Amino acid sequence: MTGTLSEVAQACWADLAAAAASREEPFRTPVLSTAGLDGAPEARTVVLRAVDPARRALTLFTDSRSAKWAELAADPRAGLVFYDPARQVQLRLAGTAALHRDDETARAYWLAAPPAVRLPYLCQPGPGAALDAAGPGIAPPVFAGPLGEDTLAPGAAFFAVIVLSIHRLQWLSLRRMGNMAARFDWDERGALTAGWIVP
Ligand SMILES: Cc1cc2nc3c(=O)[nH]c(=O)nc-3n(C[C@H](O)[C@H](O)[C@H](O)COP(=O)(O)O)c2cc1C
Repeated sequence: MTGTLSEVAQACWADLAAAAASREEPFRTPVLSTAGLDGAPEARTVVLRAVDPARRALTLFTDSRSAKWAELAADPRAGLVFYDPARQVQLRLAGTAALHRDDETARAYWLAAPPAVRLPYLCQPGPGAALDAAGPGIAPPVFAGPLGEDTLAPGAAFFAVIVLSIHRLQWLSLRRMGNMAARFDWDERGALTAGWIVP
């Protein structure tokens, strides 16, 4: 069953919302692409943290010392690719990033995040920096005691939130009887242009 274009779009947003709510969902860990500071493409896996279908907004967490943060600050255009291997469905999204650090949005997500999500932000120096030996880049005393508020608090300085406003969604479904694809584009006022496309 494929349904109408409108049903396809609705199902895509429902699947995205489900992925933000559950670790088991296949769309939970999309690949985020950005333009590198030298203009070359960059891509990496991220966790989908929140979805607001009405605003077409997707929320991700990252470290403000990471390369992707600097890249999005320089060029907020971003792509997200999701793949569900069981259903053989791919979603390709394009959007514009709003960056939140040391503001109300970042603080609210930080306070709501469980310790395991906050832990990586304790690394020193930041993601991508060279280490003398393999390891998490987090000083061992952290792992010796409980992960209480006092231990995790320094990570708040680096915790950052990316909110992507989506303006394009491409749906692709691989099927033995013939693949299918559709494209949805929203203009600045939110008006939608939708159509079936050759897969
Ligand atoms: C399953 C998985 C989930 C990940 N989730 C995130 C995430 O939510 N945020 C993030 O910044 N990095 C996440 N990473 C790490 C990134 O893929 C990447 O290695 C790191 O953020 C540095 O990327 P950058 O140098 O391009 O900024 C995840 C990696 C994996 C394998």
